[in-house]
Amino acid sequence: MLSAHERVYRPWPGVLAGHRAYLLPEISGVGLTLHEGGTPLVAAPRLGSRLGIDLHLKVEGQNPTGSFKDRGMVAAVAGAMAGGARTVVCASTGNTAASAAAYSARAGLKCLVILPAGAVSAGKVAQALVYGARLVPVRCGFDRALELARELAARTPAVLVNSLNPLRLEGQKTAAFEVASALGGAPDFLVLPVGNGGNIRAYWLGFQQYRRAGLIDRCPRIIGVQALGADPLVRGEPIAEPRTRATAICIGRPAGWNGAMDAIRESGGTVLAVDDSQIFAARDLLAADEGVFAEPASAAAAAGLACLAERGAVPCGSTVVLVLTGHGLKDPDAVLERACLPPVVEPEFPAILAAAGDGGAVDDPGI
Ligand code: F0G
Repeated sequence: MLSAHERVYRPWPGVLAGHRAYLLPEISGVGLTLHEGGTPLVAAPRLGSRLGIDLHLKVEGQNPTGSFKDRGMVAAVAGAMAGGARTVVCASTGNTAASAAAYSARAGLKCLVILPAGAVSAGKVAQALVYGARLVPVRCGFDRALELARELAARTPAVLVNSLNPLRLEGQKTAAFEVASALGGAPDFLVLPVGNGGNIRAYWLGFQQYRRAGLIDRCPRIIGVQALGADPLVRGEPIAEPRTRATAICIGRPAGWNGAMDAIRESGGTVLAVDDSQIFAARDLLAADEGVFAEPASAAAAAGLACLAERGAVPCGSTVVLVLTGHGLKDPDAVLERACLPPVVEPEFPAILAAAGDGGAVDDPGI
């Protein structure tokens, strides 16, 4: 028999059970989980010292389907189950689709996902397919796809599981609880990417709830980052044809516009935009400095933080949490299409040594 001490494997119970005391009773008792949430807050000393701040990464790519969406999806699908639904529907730039597909498979529900055709990364399409969702690629962008998903939910019994469904934010706010408990309080700043505007509001709700409960004495300033070309909140007007390589946040008319702007205003934060080349540079720096691989949308937040730190808008020594919303493996093409792969060599030792030594990759081969 293993002693209690030797039983080192104690899985985090998932969002609904793990945060039960701070969630609506209608979902907290539903036994649905893929052990989402409970993601690590990873210290980022190298990148932090470059920026002169105490930096921590909330690595949401470690959720079951590789993005923060699982926190909200477990709640939304639990709500659908509790309400006796048989089908859920969403529009998605990919991560919501992957998550909805996984949780509805788990719950035994049917899942329909409306995707902007040609604008979703391969990893996310593969996930939605393998979990058995019905995919409907449509010749339009995300904004129109969401209108169609809403119409479908209004005209049929299918439950909408986009973040217009309030249970999505209910689940997603739990990330704020985890940040606060890992740090023993709120950070000075929380920085995250903004697409449809749900997650930023969810964090704000979570911090406020913990403050009201007396668990923290203040909330962080919340900084939203958009991709240039898909930056309606920064411009203050919708964008009819948004464009960015960070496909997850290629959104021109966020459904959560007001909630996102309220979170920014009430927290004393700001919103800014970064271009695709800044996004890729930040992604590569995160991976090289800290060993963390984030998808382009998440790297946008890192790029935005670097911009603000350079401008002096984040005072030296501030505690900052950077939310890395999705795993880099969601979109390997975003690396490979820019990378120059080395040439293939013959399987002979001298060839390997020559190739390995090229550029100093092997220190002093001694030959
Ligand atoms: N980061 C990633 C990796 C995302 O997939 C999304 C949104 C966001 C950030 C922005 O979050 O919409 O709450 O402001 N993805 C949605 C989707 C739109 O369909 O997967 P938001």
